[in-house]
Amino acid sequence: MDTTNGTIITLLLGSIGLYSLYKLLQKLRSGDYVRGAVVVITGATSGLGKECAKVFYAVGAHLVLCGRSKEKLEELVEELTQMQLKTTQPHKPHIVIFDLSDVEAVKLAAKEILQLTGRVDILINNAGISYRGTILDTKISVDKMIMDTNYFGPVALTKALIPSMIKKRRGHVVVISSVQGKISIPFRSAYSASKHATQAFFDCLRAEMASYEIEVTVISPGYIKTNLSLNAVTGDGSNYGVMDKNTAEGRMPEEVAQTILQSVNEKRKDVLVAGLLPTLAVYLRTLTPTIFFSIMAARAKKEAKPKSS
Ligand SMILES: NC(=O)c1ccc[n+]([C@@H]2O[C@H](COP(=O)([O-])OP(=O)(O)OC[C@H]3O[C@@H](n4cnc5c(N)ncnc54)[C@H](OP(=O)(O)O)[C@@H]3O)[C@@H](O)[C@H]2O)c1
Repeated sequence: MDTTNGTIITLLLGSIGLYSLYKLLQKLRSGDYVRGAVVVITGATSGLGKECAKVFYAVGAHLVLCGRSKEKLEELVEELTQMQLKTTQPHKPHIVIFDLSDVEAVKLAAKEILQLTGRVDILINNAGISYRGTILDTKISVDKMIMDTNYFGPVALTKALIPSMIKKRRGHVVVISSVQGKISIPFRSAYSASKHATQAFFDCLRAEMASYEIEVTVISPGYIKTNLSLNAVTGDGSNYGVMDKNTAEGRMPEEVAQTILQSVNEKRKDVLVAGLLPTLAVYLRTLTPTIFFSIMAARAKKEAKPKSS
């Protein structure tokens, strides 16, 4: 009995040791993957994009920070260059200003990025906008604006930059989708639709780019404590302007940014960054859709606002 226990403990400790060694080697090797890499981040002016900028800068990435506000991007560059870094030689970040919902502006921005850096190693399609409203009361122009920002913008930027990656036979495209890219919840139709489309497009891209050795990572987070709900639009296009409870209680953006760095390093393909309930909901939607649809119908009924007469 004692010998059996001893063998089990030895095997267990051996396995833990081997796993730790594997993780350490992976970490050491992964430093090289991002160090010195040209990393383009959209939506770097706020929330998750800003935290990604800090995390990738700290490991020696050569950043191109994209956004709509020159002032906010310049402030971020200032903040980054003040960071005390122990191990890496920092590269001064570039900034590129454009509106992601304007496809022509996106194409010009891609040209500018390539002129500035000569190449893109990692593209992080992070920028996005959220929405709150009922399908019946939402103007089609709002549906289109959400699709332009969350779907056509990242698609246009990726299409404009990927030929340069193919030429170099090196590249990694990351897109920040959402749990709502895997399941639709009531009163988020336009947002959910844009993220489902994102998941589908980048899954296709992964398959088509495999022969060029270009990696594609789709990150699907649950709630993150950012300004996403404050910046969301409503059905008539006005600002929602509310910090939702779920968002306020969400994961810290710096924690999610670390997960993104790790996922890039490990070249993971599809990453769900969510707690138990949203994860269960994703499985429920696939395995027992009827139950999932009943739960969502009950939720819609509960959350529906009474119409003022
Ligand atoms: N927070 C969450 O709970 C959560 C959960 C899952 C997924 N996500 C995703 O995470 C990503 C980052 O969002 P966040 O949470 O960090 O929200 P956020 O704080 O509101 O940041 C959104 C970023 O996107 C930029 N952006 C919006 N519309 C743009 C446009 N037309 N052109 C260029 N940039 C635009 C914003 O720029 P401005 O400063 O110019 O407005 C801002 O930098 C989004 O794709 C979002 O869908 C967030």
